[in-house]
Amino acid sequence: MKKLGVLFILFFSMNCYAQKFDDLAKTPPMGWNSYNTFAGNFDEALLRNMVDLLVSTGMRDAGYIYIIVDDNWTAERDSLGFLTVDKKRFPSGMEAFSKYVHSKGLKLGLYSDAGYKTCGGYISSRGHEFQDAIMFARWGCDYLKYDWCNSDDLKAVGAYTTMRDAIYTAKRPMIFSMCEWGNNKPWEWAVSVGHLWRTTGDITSCFNCVDRHNGAYNSWGVMQIWDMQNGLRKYAGPGHWNDPDMLEVGIGSLTLTESRAHFSLWSMIAAPLISGYDLRKMSKDVLDILTNKEVIAVDQDSLGIQGFDQKKIDSVEVWYKPLKNGDWALCFFNRGPKPAEINYDWKNEIIKDDVFNYELNFNKQIYTLRDLWAKKDIGRTEKPLRTEIASHDVLMLRLIK
Ligand code: GLA
Repeated sequence: MKKLGVLFILFFSMNCYAQKFDDLAKTPPMGWNSYNTFAGNFDEALLRNMVDLLVSTGMRDAGYIYIIVDDNWTAERDSLGFLTVDKKRFPSGMEAFSKYVHSKGLKLGLYSDAGYKTCGGYISSRGHEFQDAIMFARWGCDYLKYDWCNSDDLKAVGAYTTMRDAIYTAKRPMIFSMCEWGNNKPWEWAVSVGHLWRTTGDITSCFNCVDRHNGAYNSWGVMQIWDMQNGLRKYAGPGHWNDPDMLEVGIGSLTLTESRAHFSLWSMIAAPLISGYDLRKMSKDVLDILTNKEVIAVDQDSLGIQGFDQKKIDSVEVWYKPLKNGDWALCFFNRGPKPAEINYDWKNEIIKDDVFNYELNFNKQIYTLRDLWAKKDIGRTEKPLRTEIASHDVLMLRLIK
């Protein structure tokens, strides 16, 4: 009996111990990450510059608070097995960089990988998970992106749960960003493991293309990634988000229109908003997209419900997202190569969210239409909406009760 009691206590204490830090990502995380523009071409000076620019451009105040140092910065372990930082890249060390980040009202994100080596071939956490989590905590890390390269014989559930437990044991709250590319359907098992999980392989900076890396792997354009989100909305919510990868707004071959569509679509599905833009080149147009408060408010809405597609009208996809206080977001997205005419009679549309049980009936309730890119009210739902949407453009509205 006594033995049974001990086992009982052990069981319950282990259960309390094994958890992720709650309340860290009640809305989708927002920040900036080094990878999309710089890959391995960065150093501390450049990152300090990015910190300053996050502040001076107003990005931080718009919500981009995590600055995430992606792959390519770890060096050999010390004699006790602790991770060290590449001194050439970070001459003042990670702790000093972290202090700088925090002194500017930002938070620090770091990167590691479940295998022995990162995707870029740098030292990573396999076999040292608890030690690395301690080191990340000492460096003042607030967000860990954990990749899946060289994972060979590892099981994803075990590998990610181990790192979750390591972070919890290190006692510093960190968002745990699982970068497992959706290979093992993390949406089915990772609600109690991570705060966000990648749903796909890497995004690349084009609207509609596939980058085939010599047959080794593919990275995907915005449209390819968008189509891969199908069926996943029911798994996301406050504290556990689907991550369709970082923003390519303003990067590569994306036009401004396409960047705006990309940003709108990511916001409609409550995606994490992690910019990869070279902030030194910031133009007013790109800044206007990245810091559009009303679009960000759709992404960050506290209900935390991903939008759903109502229907397609020729080349135009129609997406709805329920919001707090009875408002809705609505996005008409023209995927086609030509401008599309819209004639949308609200009275004929009954909108049903079967997964989260929301319903919208324009015969019972009239809404004001707020155009989130034009930043003005454009009418009400009593009259049909007639408009034209350019190729690859959106009309994004907030329906205000
Ligand atoms: C993988 C990830 C990317 C990035 C690179 C870094 O490809 O999916 O997001 O972190 O590794 O090498």
